[in-house]
Amino acid sequence: MAEFDITIAGEVNLDLILYGLDETIPLNREILATNFELTLGSSSAILAHNLAALGRRVGFVTQCGTDPLGSIAMERLAESGADLSRCTKGGAKSKTGVTILLPHGRSRRILTYPGIMFDMTVADLDLDYLASAKHFHLSSLFLLRGLHAGLPELFRELKKRGLTLSLDTNDDPEDLWDGVLELLLPYLDLLLPNDDEARRIARRDSIEEALDVLSARVPLIAVKCGSKGALVQEGGRRFAVPGVSVQPVDTIGAGDSFDAGFLAAWLGGATAEQSAQAGNITGALSTQRPGGTEAFRDRGLMEEFLRDHAFHFHLARASRK
Ligand SMILES: Nc1ncnc2c1ncn2[C@@H]1O[C@H](COP(=O)(O)OP(=O)(O)OP(=O)(O)O)[C@@H](O)[C@H]1O
Ligand SMILES: [Mg+2]
Repeated sequence: MAEFDITIAGEVNLDLILYGLDETIPLNREILATNFELTLGSSSAILAHNLAALGRRVGFVTQCGTDPLGSIAMERLAESGADLSRCTKGGAKSKTGVTILLPHGRSRRILTYPGIMFDMTVADLDLDYLASAKHFHLSSLFLLRGLHAGLPELFRELKKRGLTLSLDTNDDPEDLWDGVLELLLPYLDLLLPNDDEARRIARRDSIEEALDVLSARVPLIAVKCGSKGALVQEGGRRFAVPGVSVQPVDTIGAGDSFDAGFLAAWLGGATAEQSAQAGNITGALSTQRPGGTEAFRDRGLMEEFLRDHAFHFHLARASRK
């Protein structure tokens, strides 16, 4: 049996969230936020944390800075139970990335200082460790610039060793949506974009046209559509899976939390529909607390929410294989 259900290589940073600020912020004034949270951030780390919290065996590889922010981030990750034995630290005075988030109702400002996020290369990864899982996932493709040169070869090798592969690109800060992405698509078993990202990747205006294009390249695509839930394309079949009705506190990290639920179910053999239902439940769970991991750190809340929404029912009825 593989040592891990999933290995993930990616970035780690902290999210500093300031609530209650107007969209227009005047210069040279002291502006008071109504609340502040410091949480584990970054798509890859949130996914690793939440998958481990859901009970999956996760091996997570990252590089953090030697600053206090790096220590806080790694402590949070360790609490989840993810294996961090192959994580490394940057050189002396290296800085961990940080994201300052300003939620403004349904939209938000996202300001990231990447720190050493761009530095990790494929040479820093232990191939045998990554391959000791059933599945390998990559998030935040466009932030992991140091990995790009070696990624097609890494994907090819992992595929050769029998792993399934998934990708959540998240946003491209340069809005180019090209380069290594094109080379990775043929290796993917599963793509997990949001609605906007799917249209940008496919260079189409509507999600329907985008899925027509992408379905020729990737066998399974689960598109995240906020409160509406998910739109799934599996081969020639397309279906909507409605979201869970909740009053969100904060939607930061809902996409990564959707990925966690989807993968937890899918890796257990659930169908695409059951997996999307599981993803909608964990995406909605994430909105019940600040940031992407707080709802999963509150074990009481997590267990009650998963029970109320029959999360394990979607896993237990697993029937894909
Ligand atoms: N308001 C909401 N109510 C219920 N479920 C939600 C809500 N917002 C998000 N979700 C759930 O979380 C999933 C992911 O949300 P979203 O579409 O915002 O992803 P994303 O844009 O990738 O997010 P992120 O910014 O975390 O990367 C949705 O598909 C849905 O299942
Ligand atoms: Mg996302």
